Amino acid sequence: MKRNIIITGGAGFIGSHVVRLFVNKYPDYRIINVDKLTYAGNLANLRDIEDRPNYRFVKMDICDFEAVSALIKEENVDGIIHLAAESHVDRSIKDPFTFARTNVLGTLSLLQAARLNWEPMGWNCPSEESSDVRIPCRFYHVSTDEVYGALALDKPEGNPPYGTDFFREDTPYNPHSPYSASKASSDHFVRSFHDTYGMPVVISNCSNNYGPYQFPEKLIPLFINNIRKGKPLPVYGKGENVRDWLYVEDHARAIDLIFHEGRTAQTYNIGGFNEWKNIDLIKVMVKTVDRLLGNPEGHSLRLITFVTDRAGHDLRYAIDSTKLHNELGWEPSLQFEEGIEKTVRWYLDNQDWMDNVTSGEYQRYYEEMYKL
Ligand code: NAD
Ligand code: TYD
Repeated sequence: MKRNIIITGGAGFIGSHVVRLFVNKYPDYRIINVDKLTYAGNLANLRDIEDRPNYRFVKMDICDFEAVSALIKEENVDGIIHLAAESHVDRSIKDPFTFARTNVLGTLSLLQAARLNWEPMGWNCPSEESSDVRIPCRFYHVSTDEVYGALALDKPEGNPPYGTDFFREDTPYNPHSPYSASKASSDHFVRSFHDTYGMPVVISNCSNNYGPYQFPEKLIPLFINNIRKGKPLPVYGKGENVRDWLYVEDHARAIDLIFHEGRTAQTYNIGGFNEWKNIDLIKVMVKTVDRLLGNPEGHSLRLITFVTDRAGHDLRYAIDSTKLHNELGWEPSLQFEEGIEKTVRWYLDNQDWMDNVTSGEYQRYYEEMYKL
């Protein structure tokens, strides 16, 4: 079946992997990447697929309701996979308004634009191939496990899992940062559009992702780059916080499955059953980068610098993704050791990408190239 799908935030970290997967896997689909190109959006992430006939990039702010609505109509869009967001907790602490604007109002603008286009058609779009075929519309909202709050660390000295508790789909929302509060609010709006108007929605909440093309303000790419440059590694607090890490391509595979086979109005948790205490993860990164750079073992450990803790720093995240496994057969494909090795190699082999992103050069280059 031919589908016309908007993927928002497709120039960002996870979005670029989702766009690549869909453009390659579904040559009959039309994939429309809607992205404002903030500091986190980078068209260089999609250079390998940018000339494909089934791909279109549109520079657009999701908060621009009129523009989004016109695009849905123009492209006869029958599916939206929504990833565009402000995504960094530290930025949300400094500037919460931008997070409320994009994550809450931007999501609402997309929902309303989709509803006004789809509701009159009974939530089914006419197919371009045959007037008899109707394509069920779908609004897929990509969210985070951070909406659930923080879990206890009841085995601080032990091996993972560090606690007995996990985030499940029915865990009550309890966000602590402006980022997670804004994502929680957007999740509620998405559910409300199902409950109030009958919009066919689905939501997933995923744990921390890692892999190629992640903006180097997040822990893993930031630290790989700093080790390469011999710069300090700022560890918040004592480095005891625990995160559940998933390789980004496994998240993209889960999004593909849920978009196509997930049940309407359901939530699916996505996680790697892969908990790491920050300080232990950082030591693995130091070891891997040193080995690949040919440095003596332990060479860069001296860069570890304990700094003031993040305000409201959530202690532990850990996802139970049993529902996704049982219903749709998904499981992570990569072991963490393999994933982190691939990731470190990618950043070391793509130093130009890193240098461009950190210099802001790419933004000017691509705006020039695309006459944006
Ligand atoms: P990212 O910051 O790398 O990318 C966000 C993208 O959204 C960028 O391309 C940016 O230009 C675009 N964008 C921002 N504001 C926009 C606006 N107003 N209009 C249009 N585009 C806009 O983010 P990411 O890490 O790839 O996260 C993608 C999604 O996945 C987010 O919704 C995030 O909450 C969620 N998520 C992320 C993680 C993670 O570990 N990174 C984990 C779980 C869920
Ligand atoms: P981050 O990558 O920002 O993701 P999130 O806050 O969404 O989990 O941070 C991952 C963990 O690493 C988190 O516990 C905060 C910590 N951290 C540091 O210790 N130092 C840093 O410089 C950064 C960016 C994060």
